Amino acid sequence: MRLRTHDVTLIGERVTLRPLTEGDWDLLLAWNGDRELLYFLEGDDDVAYDLAQVQQIYRGVSMHAFCFVASVGRIPIGECWMQEMNLARISRGYPRMDCRRIDLMIGERGHRRRDLGTEMIRLLTSFAFERTRADTVFGCDIADFNIASLRAFQKAGFAATAKIEQPPGRKARFCWDLMIERNRG
Ligand SMILES: CC(C)(COP(=O)(O)OP(=O)(O)OC[C@H]1O[C@@H](n2cnc3c(N)ncnc32)[C@H](O)[C@@H]1OP(=O)(O)O)[C@@H](O)C(=O)NCCC(=O)NCCS
Repeated sequence: MRLRTHDVTLIGERVTLRPLTEGDWDLLLAWNGDRELLYFLEGDDDVAYDLAQVQQIYRGVSMHAFCFVASVGRIPIGECWMQEMNLARISRGYPRMDCRRIDLMIGERGHRRRDLGTEMIRLLTSFAFERTRADTVFGCDIADFNIASLRAFQKAGFAATAKIEQPPGRKARFCWDLMIERNRG
């Protein structure tokens, strides 16, 4: 299986999102090997992935998602995607609605906390509403300790729809789902 790619490029004030390609494995491997980042992304083991695992993850996701590399100028800083909702607990609550989700990471540490994540979320959300049939877009399963992610989604106009208690012993006590709806005005 190879990555399913696309021809969408999204240009923001500072961030550009271009299609993820089979030429990006070095970047993805480096970012997915950063333990500080894995702490926020992963459930409870924070194990760094090898190339085969990274390829399997992104190739799998790409079957249902528009996957992007985010750059500032010529510097790749992270990745993100927008895809159909894949969590039944959310889809069930919004029958007859086209629900999507977005996921993102800024792999380059020096580029975090500079409002770039918020811009990535805004770009993906506009893309979902303006160029696909999305009715709602979600950020899903965001750990209570991941303040940067929660704040970035909120700054982009998302509001919490669910606070999900985690089983004892997990890093997070709660995870949040946040959502934004298409503006029908
Ligand atoms: C989550 C992520 C994409 C957000 O992007 P970002 O560019 O760092 O976020 P922004 O700068 O746009 O916004 C972060 C906000 O959180 C705030 N923040 C971050 N850490 C904080 C903390 N510990 N306490 C209080 N506020 C905090 C920042 O001050 C900023 O808010 P402000 O603009 O009101 O000051 C990025 O941090 C990242 O890649 N993290 C690791 C991977 C990850 O967690 N991905 C999401 C999984 S759900």
